[in-house]
Amino acid sequence: MYVKITTLTENTAGFGFLAEWGLSLFMDLNGFKVLMDTGMGNSAVYNASLLDVDFSEIDTIVLSHGHIDHTGGLAQVLKLSGPKRIIAHPDVFAAKYSDRRGRPDHNIGIPFSREELEKLGASFELSREPVEIAPGVFTSGEVPMKTAYEKLDEGLFWQSDHGVEPDPMRDDLSLALRTSQGLIVILGCAHRGPVNIIRHLQQVTGEARVYAVVGGTHLVHASDQRIQDTIGEFKKINISKIACCHCTGMRASAMMAEAFGDRFLYNNAGSRLSFDMDQGVEP
Ligand SMILES: [Fe+2]
Ligand SMILES: [Fe+2]
Repeated sequence: MYVKITTLTENTAGFGFLAEWGLSLFMDLNGFKVLMDTGMGNSAVYNASLLDVDFSEIDTIVLSHGHIDHTGGLAQVLKLSGPKRIIAHPDVFAAKYSDRRGRPDHNIGIPFSREELEKLGASFELSREPVEIAPGVFTSGEVPMKTAYEKLDEGLFWQSDHGVEPDPMRDDLSLALRTSQGLIVILGCAHRGPVNIIRHLQQVTGEARVYAVVGGTHLVHASDQRIQDTIGEFKKINISKIACCHCTGMRASAMMAEAFGDRFLYNNAGSRLSFDMDQGVEP
């Protein structure tokens, strides 16, 4: 079994690729092709053209949550891909806000209506529960928050039925791929906490071993103590490959690099991770 993960959008980029605050990961899982997120603007489409990624081959698109840095490129992707199934949480279309940008009333949620996207061929499956999108490939569904040290980002808000309130980020979805060497966990922004997410995905999949964690961990505003607690838990779980990026932030990334040595890789735009799960080949 092979797993190939190509990073189309990330805050930083390899030589010749476009960088953009956001995330987009194209995955080839033994021939089943999943796009998780689309970045904010042009970078996913531009970088895909350099990486020979053909959006028409996508089997399923997964949106990790509604924030624009993960969904803003979706219309452009759909124009190239044609009709696609899209898995997301029902809150993905809610208006969202941040008090950090100096524009607290500026919507940082998905910049399209459901109808606009459906006209472009989107076929939405919105679920609060985990979905097995292909054999051994699971979305997390809503993630329970259980660790004492993982807290929601206090700078984020959403438009609930009662007005603008702190965002519980219930739409935060991650993916797990069940392989012969354990799970490969794919995080979007991990707003509900990377350890909460991993623990939940272990339950959803019935697989305790975690081979790799890829994507955003939202430790960018976390205290040193929380970062250390997260690293401690990753060590306890004994994760072999840690390819974190995006909202992990520079400080947490540096601390992870220090803690994990060559088990850590900063996964930026243009990176291609390739796992031969039968051979255990290094990425
Ligand atoms: Fe993000
Ligand atoms: Fe986010």
